[in-house]
Amino acid sequence: MLFRTTVLAAFALVALIIVPARADQIVIRFSHVVGTNTPKGIGANLFKEKVEQRLAGKVRVEVYPRSQRFTDDQVLLALLFGDAEMAAPSLAKFRSYNKSLQVFDLPFLFKDLDAVHTFQASKTGRALLDSMAPRGIKGLAYWDNGPRVMSANRPLRVPGDAKGLIFRIEPSAVFQEQYARLGVVAIPMPFKRVTDAVREGLVKGQENAWSNIYSRRLHKFQRHFTEAGHSFLGYMVVTSTAFWQGLPTDIRIELEAILAEVTAEVNRLAGEKAESDRRKVAAAEGVEILRLGDAEREAWRQRLVPVWKKFETEIGADVIKAAQAAGAGR
Ligand code: LMR
Repeated sequence: MLFRTTVLAAFALVALIIVPARADQIVIRFSHVVGTNTPKGIGANLFKEKVEQRLAGKVRVEVYPRSQRFTDDQVLLALLFGDAEMAAPSLAKFRSYNKSLQVFDLPFLFKDLDAVHTFQASKTGRALLDSMAPRGIKGLAYWDNGPRVMSANRPLRVPGDAKGLIFRIEPSAVFQEQYARLGVVAIPMPFKRVTDAVREGLVKGQENAWSNIYSRRLHKFQRHFTEAGHSFLGYMVVTSTAFWQGLPTDIRIELEAILAEVTAEVNRLAGEKAESDRRKVAAAEGVEILRLGDAEREAWRQRLVPVWKKFETEIGADVIKAAQAAGAGR
């Protein structure tokens, strides 16, 4: 009896060591700040689904949406410290890692989303994915959200209409300068604070993509929207160079193949999502969306384009030129 118990205990111990630990399983913690029904949220979940189908038992993906674990500023450090393996901050969030990436923030630089895509696929655009390597961050892909639109507690038809307002901005030096040129007090704030700041009237304006506006219900508190076509919200999917290089080659190749498929899907559905979320916001009570005519748009452009000059040295004149070549802004 004692012998049987000892043998069973020994088997249980071996099973404990061999089975439940699954020490060889790779875990990818994908941390992001937006809702699940946004292009990035859908993309992260689709990535998880495909990875767990095709690399079953080898790789598990845990998705943490809505800043559950980190804000965008925190997540880049978390990648470096091994507290997260993937993230997709907006392109406005990388200034401390590489200043050239600010090219994506310049107002009216890209005339439309096709121009953004052409630039991203160009030699310069692809080099920017690798530009943070000296800081340990590896860019894997560009994901779209959509055009940034401004909202405020009053209509903004001409640049002078924004004067004196307080705006929430993403922590971007370019945006800070852009809003300074409009006479706006711009407060950089993490995304998770935006709804409260807008609801409590701490800020009187903000800019974001339709999916973020709709999913965070910002239209309930600020009803005047302006589509100036000055900016696009896009993301870079990133990981740490050390983590990515440490993956077994076959797994890394499969993950890159999956990411390419997910990127195509995210960028296909982002346009549809922007349209459908815009329609839902437009249908809400009291909402007014100003789509500017050419002359009005030109007034915004004239006011904001001088921002480029201020950042030309930091970003690199060659990088700005390459972006212009991809489809010059009007
Ligand atoms: C923001 O901070 O407003 C956006 O970058 C959030 C996001 O990830 O879309």
